[in-house]
Amino acid sequence: MSFPLHRPRRLRQSAAMRRLVAETRIHPNQLILPAFIKEGVSEPVAIESMPGVVQHTADTLKRAAAEAAELGVGGIMLFGVPAQRDATGSCSLDPEGVLNGAVRDVKGEVGDALVVMSDLCLDEFTDHGHCGVLREDGAVDNDATLEIYAQMGVAQAEAGADVLGPSGMMDGQVRVIREALDDAGHQDTAILAYAAKYSSAFYGPFRDAVDSALQGDRKTYQMDPANRTEAIHEVMLDLEEGADMVMVKPAMSYLDVLREVADLADVPVSAYQISGEYAMIEAAAAHGWIDRKASIVESVLSIRRAGADTVLTYWAAELARWIKEDS
Ligand code: PBG
Repeated sequence: MSFPLHRPRRLRQSAAMRRLVAETRIHPNQLILPAFIKEGVSEPVAIESMPGVVQHTADTLKRAAAEAAELGVGGIMLFGVPAQRDATGSCSLDPEGVLNGAVRDVKGEVGDALVVMSDLCLDEFTDHGHCGVLREDGAVDNDATLEIYAQMGVAQAEAGADVLGPSGMMDGQVRVIREALDDAGHQDTAILAYAAKYSSAFYGPFRDAVDSALQGDRKTYQMDPANRTEAIHEVMLDLEEGADMVMVKPAMSYLDVLREVADLADVPVSAYQISGEYAMIEAAAAHGWIDRKASIVESVLSIRRAGADTVLTYWAAELARWIKEDS
């Protein structure tokens, strides 16, 4: 009997063979492009810590959405950067506000060619930068925030969002938003719950992207990176409350959590490859320390392999183009 008996290398001998037996694939339809729109600018504004990503004008956002649809990208997640902020984030409720307006514009531009998603959170709209309103002692007031989230949800649905992405990690947020949507006749608007969202240092560049005013941190509402079991609890709660899809965020430092959530959830699971993950790869690639394209593909593939059905990534359009070209 010849040795070794088993030769797994046989299936790695050619690109054709590797392609045939690949267990995980990335399809453009599974990708969601997060995009920023800034109120009151006439040209897109570069985000220094996220080379290649911009704060869009209304026009360039529409063009980016149309391009993403053209490339077969599955969805777009919109974030608004308002010109004015206040303690309660009141611009978030204005039907003509930067985010609601962008939702309407993008939906008008792409129709059903792209699933239009809208970030449902107060941090871009408050002058203190927290994801909710504050009590007198400065703590984030969970239940007062819920009342605003409910109204935001209805405003975003009215603007035409297909999916709402509550990302503020307030307890009970999915339930109040679901109820408000149903009461307002928006039964068909879906909720992608940021169910297991960790308090992560890797959000750093995002704070530039939305000109964040935050002092301090979000540790009283976002999850402790030390916890895994708690993520299961958060996911179960959001499912009970009516989430149509759930998300783990960030992605790469939380692939273990993602795997567990994927094994347990009976709804589509999403993962968000966040700003810091983007910035690290771009920065290392810019130095010539890693191969940019290979690193991007490997990073998204690993997120899919860990169990994500859909992936939010700032490379969604570029990746979709590569997949098209390479197939
Ligand atoms: C909060 C929100 C954040 C991100 C998405 N939604 C920032 C935070 O929680 O501090 C981060 C996204 C990224 O880093 O790419 N509305």
